[in-house]
Amino acid sequence: MTAEEIKSVGVVGAGTMGNGIAHVFAQSGYDVTLVDTSDALTQRAVENIGKNIDRQIKKGVIEEGEKDKILKHITQSTDLSATQSCQLVVEAVFEDEETKLRIFAELEKACPSETIFASNTSSLPITRLAAATNRPEQFIGMHFMNPVPVMKLVEVIRGYQTSDDTYSAIAELCSTLGKTGVEVNDYPGFVANRVLMPLINEAIYCVMEGVATAEAVDEVMKLGMAHPMGPLTLADFIGLDVCLSIMTVLHDGLGDPKYRPCPLLKKMVQAGHLGRKTKRGFYQY
Ligand code: CAA
Repeated sequence: MTAEEIKSVGVVGAGTMGNGIAHVFAQSGYDVTLVDTSDALTQRAVENIGKNIDRQIKKGVIEEGEKDKILKHITQSTDLSATQSCQLVVEAVFEDEETKLRIFAELEKACPSETIFASNTSSLPITRLAAATNRPEQFIGMHFMNPVPVMKLVEVIRGYQTSDDTYSAIAELCSTLGKTGVEVNDYPGFVANRVLMPLINEAIYCVMEGVATAEAVDEVMKLGMAHPMGPLTLADFIGLDVCLSIMTVLHDGLGDPKYRPCPLLKKMVQAGHLGRKTKRGFYQY
């Protein structure tokens, strides 16, 4: 499969990442089949895409007339076999390995053997997911960043068995989405989260040890290092449960105590203060 041959794309999972991924493919002219477990979930995703397109129109990134055209590229379904004519399927469901493997097993029944499967996982090994399918050479990681329509990066993660052809097709496809695909090998946290999460974790240690308040830590990193968001604002944005789970993957996968999750991060997750999504984390929303 080459990048030019990819015209139809399945996106499985209509949450924040899935709807962002569907949005950018549709905006670049691909036919998108968006699949989740209920009509209500896919409908809510399409409404969010509409709102995010409005945001782009307001910012002058796209023209008003584009909105309907983009939305017309998206078909909703609750049936994984609706992806049968897609040349690429991107899985973007929550980070549960069993669920992902069940989805790939279903997709294998529906899609021809040349269809490329990609996972947007932020922390599960691509090699292990790929090895559970009958097409490990055509299996790859496409790790988009949140918010997907805005962030230019896609980490393109090569599993141990990913073929050069699959890698080239996906790297080229990223350019047609207006993104830059960066080649990364499959190790815990890949590159984005291996570098970002210890930064966030260390910022949390600073708060726990009373080095500075959350506001002060964020101010230092915004004004001193030109980060668009301070690390604690970003942690709230990503979700503290997600941050903890990725730190645990780094700690377990690399076995180095430098990746130990900060006890304050663990405590906040236990308290259910998960950031923006629960309206409470390092800040209140
Ligand atoms: N689509 C969806 N959401 C959008 C958007 C779009 N086109 N444009 C902006 N946003 C969202 C923001 O999340 C935020 O949400 P609310 O309005 O609901 O509060 C809001 O829009 C802020 O937008 P503003 O217009 O006020 O701000 P901005 O456009 O100047 O910048 C930002 C927003 C792009 C998020 C910027 O602050 C930024 O770059 N922050 C860092 C983001 C980052 O680091 N992302 C990577 C996270 S790590 C990851 O994703 C990987 C992982 O595995 C955990």
